[in-house]
Amino acid sequence: MLITFEGIDGAGKSTQIKKLLAFFAEQQLEVLSLREPGGTEVAEKIREILLESHHEITPIGELLLFSASRIELVQKVIMPALNAGQTVILDRFFDSTTAYQGYGRGIDLEQLHSIISLSTGGLKPDITFYLDLLPEEAMQRKFFASSLPLAFEDERLDRMERSGLDFFKKVRQGYHAIMQSNPERFVALDATEAPDKIHCKIIRILKDRYPG
Ligand code: TYD
Repeated sequence: MLITFEGIDGAGKSTQIKKLLAFFAEQQLEVLSLREPGGTEVAEKIREILLESHHEITPIGELLLFSASRIELVQKVIMPALNAGQTVILDRFFDSTTAYQGYGRGIDLEQLHSIISLSTGGLKPDITFYLDLLPEEAMQRKFFASSLPLAFEDERLDRMERSGLDFFKKVRQGYHAIMQSNPERFVALDATEAPDKIHCKIIRILKDRYPG
């Protein structure tokens, strides 16, 4: 089974993934936890270019780099794990590409989908938990987490995070559009709720959908 987590930066995916992993560990269920971009030697190098660099990258270049990282991870790690019957938890997958590169950067969605199908080999998540948060609120969270005031152009943010409020508003609208087209797969969660409450909802939904 493939479980993915989506949402804008700062929505609390990592916290929920940690809680879910702890839950699986308690049940003595072995799962594989991965994040995109990254996860193989080559994919980690691509991650550095995408997030840590100060290079100007064209939107299509960015799309292809995220996609190159993805095919590495899908072919070398995710597919072998799924084929061996393992559950895989993935922090971001191709919905991030549709939301960020499609809706955020404005790449034509039809072109984008053909690149996505090339980079996933058609693999789709069984279930996607989407943590919904206003970009203004996500930024506030970063303000509070940081001892110094932060702005969108701040050096402490990664290359994607420096894209600005309007970009993140488009990304969030993108997620909403994706969610509407994929109601059977997407589960929307209000990211302003307490982390433990969100976690309980996730567990309940997983138990309902996959009893045993
Ligand atoms: P990361 O540090 O993993 O952030 P987060 O904890 O928010 O997931 O950075 C991943 C960044 O890359 C994030 O800003 C989303 C972006 N991204 C895309 O723009 N397209 C993609 O296809 C993927 C997988 C991520």
